[in-house]
Amino acid sequence: MTAGWQRRGYNVACMRALARTALPRPVFDFADGGAEDERTLRGNEAAFADLALLPRPMNGPATRDLSVDLFGTTLALPVLIGPTGLAGLFWPDAERLAARAAAAAGTAYCLSHGSVCTLEKLAELGTAPRWMQVFVYNDREFMRALIARAAAAGYHALVLTIDNQLLGNRERDVRNGFTIPPRFGPGEVVGMALKLPWLRRMYRELPRITFGNYVRPGVTEDISRMAARMAHLLDPALNWADVDEIRQLWKGPLLLKGVLHPAEAAEAMARGVDGLIVSNHGGRQLDGAVTSLAALPGVLEVVGGRVPVLIDGGVRRGADVVKALALGATACLIGRPALWGVSVAGEAGVAHVLDIFRREIDRAMGLVGAARIADLGPDLLFRGNAPCPIFPSSTVTSISMTSPVSAIVG
Ligand SMILES: Cc1cc2nc3c(=O)[nH]c(=O)nc-3n(C[C@H](O)[C@H](O)[C@H](O)COP(=O)(O)O)c2cc1C
Repeated sequence: MTAGWQRRGYNVACMRALARTALPRPVFDFADGGAEDERTLRGNEAAFADLALLPRPMNGPATRDLSVDLFGTTLALPVLIGPTGLAGLFWPDAERLAARAAAAAGTAYCLSHGSVCTLEKLAELGTAPRWMQVFVYNDREFMRALIARAAAAGYHALVLTIDNQLLGNRERDVRNGFTIPPRFGPGEVVGMALKLPWLRRMYRELPRITFGNYVRPGVTEDISRMAARMAHLLDPALNWADVDEIRQLWKGPLLLKGVLHPAEAAEAMARGVDGLIVSNHGGRQLDGAVTSLAALPGVLEVVGGRVPVLIDGGVRRGADVVKALALGATACLIGRPALWGVSVAGEAGVAHVLDIFRREIDRAMGLVGAARIADLGPDLLFRGNAPCPIFPSSTVTSISMTSPVSAIVG
């Protein structure tokens, strides 16, 4: 029998609404919010809405194959779970549950540097593919040690995020006075009855919430102090020599996440990077940055098919995935949708979100007339009333005042 939340959570937007009901406001906003006026956050979703599909349903495929090849592995669907720090705040052991849901769905899970569980604890599950995300730290020894730990724990790919070397200004967190563990003022206590299941689940966990990968043996450090230490570890003077060093250290696939500028894509190619993730961090870092979808064609042009180009930010529907792939992306990542899933029902919630994507992609592919991912191309896209301008040749003619802990997460 279908649980009530599954019936009500029939699409990603509904899962967001259910998560909003389940979580205390500051916790929900920590994931849901973006930087400053949230223009880039909203723009990410709007960009998908502004791009239309141009179906060719004649000779439509009886069945569709959603699989994609990525770094020698076949994924059952072109949606991966991207790195989100402090996921363990939404549900106990959320990172491991999400990794299990991803593996069961036949896709990859990328662990955040700022996970609650350690990278080793997640690796103990043996789920695959598992990717590890890191930053460049001014303590380069710490950076090298983290990468060595990821290699020792058998992570399959390393993701270097380049757009988080300064902390984003998330004003919802400032307004809410968001802290870890969360403290609730009179405003949030109203309606708290609905949040009781979360409180009950998290009661024992909250005091233990930490950034697992940053815990130092023998050192007791509360999470605020740890967040301050992590913030100081970030090095805004990140440069290509760091990428060269990481390229030397990491033998497996190396991806850069947060690439928007074609010139940076070109440089990444020259440095031997194996993949790019076109991303503005879900609008959580530089408000006013270009939307991921708008930046994608420029990056693709420079890359010219040499390495996989993935995209995240605002992917909420199977049709969004189909549009990104028709533009030339290899796959999409989701951030918030997976967090909404885990907030609603733990592992089952993440599995449900991935299943929504699977069903929606399958349906959208069938309706545009694509049997396999390789059939998705720019001829299936249409923008405005004119032939898609991106493809003229197409056949269609500072650390926040009150919230250091949240800002460090990414
Ligand atoms: C709560 C939260 C925490 C995040 N933490 C990280 C992180 O630690 N590292 C990182 O590279 N990106 C992080 N991101 C960004 C996501 O990986 C991803 O780029 C973004 O969420 C994609 O947009 P979407 O949420 O619209 O799908 C985080 C995003 C959220 C919502």
